[in-house]
Amino acid sequence: MNKKMNIAIDGPAGAGKSTVAKLVAEKLSYLYIDTGAMYRALTFAALRANLDLEEGSQLKELLDGLTIQLQHEESGVRVLLNNEDVTDEIRTKDVTSNVSLVSSHEGVRIEMVDRQRKLAETGHAVLDGRDIGTYVLPDAKVKIFLTASVEERARRRYEEHQKKGISSDFDQIKKEIAHRDKLDSTRAFAPLKKADDAAEIDSTTLTIPEVAELIIELAKERER
Ligand code: DC
Repeated sequence: MNKKMNIAIDGPAGAGKSTVAKLVAEKLSYLYIDTGAMYRALTFAALRANLDLEEGSQLKELLDGLTIQLQHEESGVRVLLNNEDVTDEIRTKDVTSNVSLVSSHEGVRIEMVDRQRKLAETGHAVLDGRDIGTYVLPDAKVKIFLTASVEERARRRYEEHQKKGISSDFDQIKKEIAHRDKLDSTRAFAPLKKADDAAEIDSTTLTIPEVAELIIELAKERER
């Protein structure tokens, strides 16, 4: 596909956005941009610096001194924070349970969005997040709002943990996912919300390749 056509994939935690976005990007030879990883990297840095996560201005100051790179390698995308590989560290429970608070601050979001728009400038990128279609790239040609029931999203997360040998409690995971949805969709600035012109895909009963195929079809239609 030659025309400039960024693809925005938004939706709640655990709907399969990143796996789908990666696959779509691979099939179209587009750049995959994981915007959640950027907020996670800042959260990791803020926790390590012992900052008060309620203080948006301190977080913004910290962010101004950080470079966050999404480096594409054979094995996947590595996340570099001032050149330090923090790919695994940003997925810990501690980061996950604090990232909604960190990402709720307006100053933090404005800076992140600026960086995300620059990364997407080539016009051949797939971005996944919460506010891509509504705020980061309101002119994206393809906008997807990917959902799945809380039950199903918790089940997927639980299975992921099982596979990695991490012990976890299904009901607890479900509660955490519902809590994060609530924080992300009720924050004042650029909350998680379906864009009016986004296509909604419910992935509860679909496989990842099926969802990716639907998105690619839509992208091809838009190109015509
Ligand atoms: O997609 P994820 O679970 O890695 O995202 C982590 C958090 O970052 C999510 O709970 C909310 C925030 N986020 C955001 O506010 N805006 C984005 N575009 C992406 C993520």
